Amino acid sequence: MCGIVAYVGSRRAYPILIKGLQRLEYRGYDSAGIGLIENNKIVTYKKDGKVNDLISFIGDSSTDGTIGIGHTRWATHGPPNQINSHPHSSSNGKFSLIHNGIIENYLTLKIALEKKGHVFISDTDSEVLIHLIEDVYNSLEKKSSSNNDLLYQAIIIALNEVIGAYAIVILEQGNTQEIFAARKGSPLVIGIGNEEYFVASDASPIIEFTNKVIYLNDGEVAKLNKNEDVIVKTIENKIKSPYVQELEQTLESIEKGGYDHFMLKEIFEQPKSIIDTLRGRINPKTNDIILGGIIDHESRILSADRIIIIACGTSWHSGLIGEYLIEDLARINVEVEYASEFRYKNPILTKKDVVIAISQSGETADTLAALELAKEKGALTLGICNVVGSSITRTTSGGTYTHAGPEIGVASTKAFTTQVTVLTLIALRLSQLKSTVERNNYDFLIKELRLVPQKIEKLLLQNDMIKEIALKFYKATNFLYLGRGVNFPVALEGALKLKEISYIHAEGYPAAEMKHGPIALIDDEMPIVVIANRKDNYEKVVSNIQEVKARGGKLIAIVTEGDQEVKSLADYCIEIPKCFREISPLLTIIPLQLLSYHIALLRECNVDQPRNLAKSVTVE
Ligand code: F6R
Repeated sequence: MCGIVAYVGSRRAYPILIKGLQRLEYRGYDSAGIGLIENNKIVTYKKDGKVNDLISFIGDSSTDGTIGIGHTRWATHGPPNQINSHPHSSSNGKFSLIHNGIIENYLTLKIALEKKGHVFISDTDSEVLIHLIEDVYNSLEKKSSSNNDLLYQAIIIALNEVIGAYAIVILEQGNTQEIFAARKGSPLVIGIGNEEYFVASDASPIIEFTNKVIYLNDGEVAKLNKNEDVIVKTIENKIKSPYVQELEQTLESIEKGGYDHFMLKEIFEQPKSIIDTLRGRINPKTNDIILGGIIDHESRILSADRIIIIACGTSWHSGLIGEYLIEDLARINVEVEYASEFRYKNPILTKKDVVIAISQSGETADTLAALELAKEKGALTLGICNVVGSSITRTTSGGTYTHAGPEIGVASTKAFTTQVTVLTLIALRLSQLKSTVERNNYDFLIKELRLVPQKIEKLLLQNDMIKEIALKFYKATNFLYLGRGVNFPVALEGALKLKEISYIHAEGYPAAEMKHGPIALIDDEMPIVVIANRKDNYEKVVSNIQEVKARGGKLIAIVTEGDQEVKSLADYCIEIPKCFREISPLLTIIPLQLLSYHIALLRECNVDQPRNLAKSVTVE
């Protein structure tokens, strides 16, 4: 969703802002803009479309300032046009703001401000916020004898009137020394350089310049004066001492590294990212699993009535796999809920429940809100997140990082497989504590889990063959994905990957459920992807395949290597290496990711930034 980048220091701000916006493109957006201070005046450039459109639009215009703000907007209030793009200015043009989030009471505020004579030119809630700050500033100015920190105070007072979520950065005309930043519910990171500051929605625009960062907490407002230390106050006007952290991220990790697309790079990174997820978590001598962020909560998990997993999208699919694994291996009752539904359904929650939030970004608004609700009701809250220091990781009592590394492609790939890896570790750890899996089997499963990276390497060698299959089907208008048991969520995930990047309608179904409705869709035009690995209800899936064949459907089967039966029925087969059922989702998903990627490419779709989608969904 919206991306924020800002700079104050002595370098030229323009290239830093533009590069920063390009690094944030993955978040999803439909217009972009920047504001700079030049000759003590705020100069604003905005354009609908992509950052490259903004660059062409700016052309040779002057861009010399050493202080500025930049924004990519994912439209919420009003269409993605030039006027609604950020930055937005106050009435007198003295202040300029970029905003990520939603001001829920913007209409009430707008009506009150209009009565005072404010005129709005955009449809946005963000413009209302900068007018509100201006209004407070004007009344403070009337009462005050000095202008010292007047804007800082005005921001704090104004934010107290705001309901909703925001990450904001503000420029003040004539003030080339400082910018102001605040957050509640939307992420914001401050980078500390040498007499310079950077601000961004995540660390990707910053790591090139510094690895010293501060993650602002909810309800904090920072004054960043290039000649002074950072000052952080809460919106209750209390001084806070900011916690400066060192970033571990590297620049290479956020670049394409020779691949045509981030998505392809991230698909191919999966062997490495799973190694990183497993690193240090399995004792090589005893096979015991150690999950540092959960260890203190194990007894509470073991005595829990149930585990509730909350998540959205791909993370929800990995949660469904977690449900199969934890119930099957550790015999603990698990429920998986869409966070967006859970938060509004008045859920029955007690202190005996354990709620696990799964989120790549750690910033998904619905997941965060559902988690806060669970916390309020006394449930133990844990997180499975990728982004270190993200809001969900700071809201939960414990949890496990996936260590997938930055995921830039909007369509989740390595985030999914690393989440499933963590869930497998949790299920196995709980099974060990509850003695629900025999030691021999446990040791076999651990061995299998360790072999996953090399099996994925082998699977990736089939990339060209999968491209050939894509060539046969890229013009299809519908796809059906079928799987059973632990591979049913993989069918859902395969369908989601296809629809989000190729815009082909695709649905995932439990294979046996097909005859209760979707079978009506099958004709000789319809491609059906079936996951039919040997160890997972194989005979039942073969029967389902027969039902598809009898109706002329075109079958693409994911089979275990050496399979003959399904091979004789299917039009196309992709072999996965032999593996245990519990481990199979980590392999069966790989060809489905590649199939979607190649189909999307053949349809000339923007693979890394599919239309309308945002990487980090920070509004509900
Ligand atoms: C799909 C995808 C989304 C996310 C969803 C949750 O490829 O990326 O469905 O999985 O928006 O995001 P996180 O995991 O960041 O909470």
